[in-house]
Amino acid sequence: MKTSERPRHSKILILDFGSQYTQVIARRVRECQVYSEIIRFDTPAAEVAAMQSKGLILSGGPASVYDKGAPQVDPGIFSLGIPILGICYGLMLMAHHLDGRVVFTGRREYGAGVLHMANRSELFDGLGNQLDVWNSHGDEVTALPEGFRVVGTTDGCDFAAVEDPQRKLYGLQFHPEVAHTPRGKEILQNFVYHICHCAMEWTMGSFIEEASARVRKQVGDDKVVLGLSGGVDSSVTAALLHKAIGDQLTCIFVNNGLLRAREEEIVQRVFGENFHIKLKYVDASDRFLSKLRGVTDPEDKRKIIGNEFIRVFEDAIVDLARTDDGASVSNHKFRFLAQGTLYPDVIESVSIGGNPAQVIKSHHNVGGLPDKMHFELVEPVRQLFKDEVRQAGLQLGLPKEIVYRQPFPGPGLAVRILGEVTPERLAILREADTIVQSEMEAADWYYKVWQSFAVLLPVQSVGVMGDQRTYENTIALRIVESQDGMTADWVRIPYELLARISNRICNEVKGVNRVVFDISSKPPSTIEWE
Ligand code: XMP
Repeated sequence: MKTSERPRHSKILILDFGSQYTQVIARRVRECQVYSEIIRFDTPAAEVAAMQSKGLILSGGPASVYDKGAPQVDPGIFSLGIPILGICYGLMLMAHHLDGRVVFTGRREYGAGVLHMANRSELFDGLGNQLDVWNSHGDEVTALPEGFRVVGTTDGCDFAAVEDPQRKLYGLQFHPEVAHTPRGKEILQNFVYHICHCAMEWTMGSFIEEASARVRKQVGDDKVVLGLSGGVDSSVTAALLHKAIGDQLTCIFVNNGLLRAREEEIVQRVFGENFHIKLKYVDASDRFLSKLRGVTDPEDKRKIIGNEFIRVFEDAIVDLARTDDGASVSNHKFRFLAQGTLYPDVIESVSIGGNPAQVIKSHHNVGGLPDKMHFELVEPVRQLFKDEVRQAGLQLGLPKEIVYRQPFPGPGLAVRILGEVTPERLAILREADTIVQSEMEAADWYYKVWQSFAVLLPVQSVGVMGDQRTYENTIALRIVESQDGMTADWVRIPYELLARISNRICNEVKGVNRVVFDISSKPPSTIEWE
């Protein structure tokens, strides 16, 4: 984020040394209602100072301080006078740069431990004499820098928690941010409230106000177009932009013919009728389905759908310009294109070994819009984590059915019909999918899982109905839990619920005589079947 975009309230910066928990640290701090931002490990001290944070947290990381190419910090940060909390690798770096001694033990201490308090520390105020903690480290501090003292030890480590209260430098060998350190949140609260003196200013109410002001400043009197998919991110983006700039926003909703049952009705009702957002509904089902005719390869299907979407979207923009401005056929009516990019997409992640890999997806998301359309981007929720986007959505008045809906892939039902996509197959899958969703909701399971859906396998098998022999298709149920879609496991759904779904599908959906339950995890399987 550019310095000019900085919010006015107090903030904690997290220097990322590549820990798998860096984002968790950022979220824990935000749960304290204090804004946090992740920055690169090698951000120069002068830049860090200019960002005016009230405290710094040095994350853990997979490296040893002695590794060749281990990510190094600008040691200047230790004399900025800003309180610093080093976690695991962060502590090692602090000790290393301040002339303590760090040794590489060659063994990783990994797992649960107990921290015994050795001295009173502001960091552990209110936490008693011992704490359950979670370790994951290879290096160990064996001699403290001058001015430091021990405040906590574990069985395996004499320097598990250390501090130099004069310079406000603190270090923890263990991970306070993970759930396995049950009272870790209180440690982080002590750090942000009592040591860094941050106020609880980061609330979704204040975010919405600030983000609206920022959008108004960015777009002035110009117009903004947004591709609304009905997913959480684009929906919250639409609601926020509408609050900020009203009718300067136009949303385009494309029906690609691959949506769930009644999806187009829900989106038009919520955004058009309830929010009175200017919404252009484009029914391009025929265009997509005719392009997909005869196509069976999953990658080909995805490519065709992606390319067609760009064309339809482009046509819709030109069309909007034409209908609103009489004869002029130009997209210059819309100077801005809005996107629901989230914070995890804009963080530059650090790969193991210290080579920062730039993983900035936001530009890819504009994905393929022709250069001649050169839009400027508006990304009002790019500071938010997914759970924060949901909170913002609720605060903006979006219904729970939108805010907490399960993810749905861009290529839609096409990747849930194996082989060729036909109108008949779509109709079968839609009916089965509706049954899965309504039974999951009725049993209070819908919001507890990551995704629950039906997949149509055009594999015919023999069945019997009444006295009749049938030879029909199979529906596979896919019900998974996941944190982020990267890994997943199948959910141990009660048998009664599985039985109800299966009975209803076999009895009510013409063309299906068998239901199977997918019990594969990701990896090695994927969540979607194509
Ligand atoms: P896979 O099947 O790769 O899916 O395990 C992981 C998550 O991503 C969703 N998904 C997509 N989302 N466009 C999307 O917006 C896509 O092309 C796409 N493919 C998969 C999937 O539903 C799951 O949540």
